Amino acid sequence: MTKRILLLLLLMLAVVAQAQPLGSIPYKSFYPGNLWFDTDGNIINAHGGGVMCHDGRYYWYGEHKGEHSNSALVGVTCYSSTDLMNWHNEGIALSVSDDPQSPITRGCILERPKVIRCASTGKFVMYFHLELKGRGYAAANVGIAVADSPTGPFTFVSNGRVNAGIWPLNMTEEQQTSTENLKGLESWSKEWVRVIADGYYNRRDHNDGQMARDMTLYVDDDGRAYHIFASEENMTIQIAELSDDCLGYTGRYVRVDAAGQNEAPAIFKKDGTYYMITSGCTGWAPNAARLLTASSIFGPWTRHDNPCRGKGADLTFQSQSTYILPVGDGFIFMADRWNPDNPIDGRYMWLPIEWEDGLPVLRMTKRWNLENK
Ligand code: GAL
Repeated sequence: MTKRILLLLLLMLAVVAQAQPLGSIPYKSFYPGNLWFDTDGNIINAHGGGVMCHDGRYYWYGEHKGEHSNSALVGVTCYSSTDLMNWHNEGIALSVSDDPQSPITRGCILERPKVIRCASTGKFVMYFHLELKGRGYAAANVGIAVADSPTGPFTFVSNGRVNAGIWPLNMTEEQQTSTENLKGLESWSKEWVRVIADGYYNRRDHNDGQMARDMTLYVDDDGRAYHIFASEENMTIQIAELSDDCLGYTGRYVRVDAAGQNEAPAIFKKDGTYYMITSGCTGWAPNAARLLTASSIFGPWTRHDNPCRGKGADLTFQSQSTYILPVGDGFIFMADRWNPDNPIDGRYMWLPIEWEDGLPVLRMTKRWNLENK
């Protein structure tokens, strides 16, 4: 065989290997960024998702995406698993509505659904980012749904802005009463950033309620649940305590990393410290992840450097955080590798959280197992 033919063969092999999904069902490892099939052999369709554990079973909820549009044409999907690698399709947990008057009518934008079990009612409660049909990303609403069983069906409860008429716990009286605005200020100038950090958008939205886009839910050790979301034109994260029935708010909330422009919040707690991994704000395009820590959920939160390490770290390995799942003593960082041209082909990037100098770090790996972590 000539060298040339050998080279050609090698090249063909490489192309085939690239196109082949790694691993076979049942999976024995995680393959971040690769095609991931459910136990029926279909591609898992659960984007921007989160995982809840109930009675020894994991439930993965996510956005159902189609090939051509990012709009919600189906609803929130649910898969279940006992080993986190092999997922059984449990169907549609929350269906979009056929009623054109419904806030979750087919064609709305329904993103980043998360489910918790409400400690006081025992019900399963879903929160998601909802954009009303035909209004782009202007509504910036939270949507809430509830179910008696983890697989649903979930019933839509309400939607809207958050904490209308209520000031954050960490906004000073001076900030609440300020009349400063952005008029005449150049975007991203020092002064523009300062006025936003000092609460301009929070004041603007005080009466109608705070904007709520990219989001997650977190249940603390005492059973208290929190909604953590990108607010104030995606410039400031807010953490809002949920009411006992988990279907609304107590009114206690804080602003986090004011004017830091964080999206895609994912949170976990270890040894009394809260860790939040977020992204910057570049739409579907990846950017460098951020890390924040606090010793109380209501802060103060401290921002650290990008937790990603190695090749691809500056773009979070082409992905964006969505959830962090505690498993045993460890944590799984769940992220999405979006594909806006073919949303259904967005890939899942699940990586083990590692530690370096007392802080969580992420490294890209093609394959990993829970036992090795
Ligand atoms: C991203 C966000 C996604 C989606 C997208 C729309 O920044 O994380 O959930 O909203 O923007 O462009």
